[in-house]
Amino acid sequence: MIQAQPFLKWAGGKTQHIKKFQKFYPAELKNGKIKRYFEPFLGSGAVFFDVAQKYKIDSALLCDINEELILTYLVIQRDVDKLLEYLLRYKKSYLKLDTEKQKEFYYELRTNYNLQRFNIDYKKYSENWIPRAAQLIFMNKTCYNGLFRMNSKGEFNSPVGRYKNPKIFDEENLQKISELLQMAEVCKLHFADIKSKARKSSFVYFDPPYRPLNRTASFTSYSTFQFNDPQQIELANLFKALDKKQAKLMLSNSDPKNEDPSDNFFDELYEDYHLYRIKANRMINSKKDKRGKINEILVLNYDVEAA
Ligand SMILES: C[S@@+](CC[C@H](N)C(=O)[O-])C[C@H]1O[C@@H](n2cnc3c(N)ncnc32)[C@H](O)[C@@H]1O
Repeated sequence: MIQAQPFLKWAGGKTQHIKKFQKFYPAELKNGKIKRYFEPFLGSGAVFFDVAQKYKIDSALLCDINEELILTYLVIQRDVDKLLEYLLRYKKSYLKLDTEKQKEFYYELRTNYNLQRFNIDYKKYSENWIPRAAQLIFMNKTCYNGLFRMNSKGEFNSPVGRYKNPKIFDEENLQKISELLQMAEVCKLHFADIKSKARKSSFVYFDPPYRPLNRTASFTSYSTFQFNDPQQIELANLFKALDKKQAKLMLSNSDPKNEDPSDNFFDELYEDYHLYRIKANRMINSKKDKRGKINEILVLNYDVEAA
């Protein structure tokens, strides 16, 4: 059986960090004492897929503020076979077209997707969620850079990309993901609303939108919501509240010291906890000579041996 991988490419996705993150997971997860996993900034769920397949988790609570993302997870959870039928149809229609016609196909689908958002009841699961989830996956696989990007009106606005053979129909992976999601509760939630949900025996991983490394890199396009310093501070307060409940907490972010060595924002915000700096490959600068390995920070409220 294959290992399930994230089915979407997502801005800030943690797939490339997984190996480094593993040694920072709490010992109680590794020795089977923690049975509940909690991820309030889910995105493509790279850490969830890793944890859920490596350890004996009984339940997971997976949340994000992006309603299109949550809709898609719920469709995979409940109706993966029907979703796959739509994806197969998209794949067949798209791959037989030449580049110019593929472009037209993409933009027509995108326009339709954006118009249809007014006809979707995001609160109540229905059959018309299924083609919508298929459209999101199709666009994620065929758009420029494979990234979900929204404008301030809430329209998906990534332009078309160029791919020889995009993986629009990935049956085995989606089936496996659907199986994994059976033990999960997936919901659209603002992170501030999760306070009552974590318990002593939970492991919570927070992966909020990055604090911008510089003003031009400001990235707030996952959704129409802002995520600036006041939200980072609000999140740190939540971290403290959950620490009191004795949940095991791990949080990642970009390290502001990459750009400004005197910036102590996170060091001060999380001074009562363990803060680690790990190397990551990331393009942070338009100037080539400034690209390369930069630090990410990890904050833990528990000790780890290997760190
Ligand atoms: C860095 S991404 C998470 C990436 C994920 N860990 C992965 O591996 O793909 C941050 C996520 O936070 C979500 N988000 C932004 N503001 C939020 C809020 N106020 N409450 C909950 N989720 C939020 C975004 O929609 C986005 O999916």
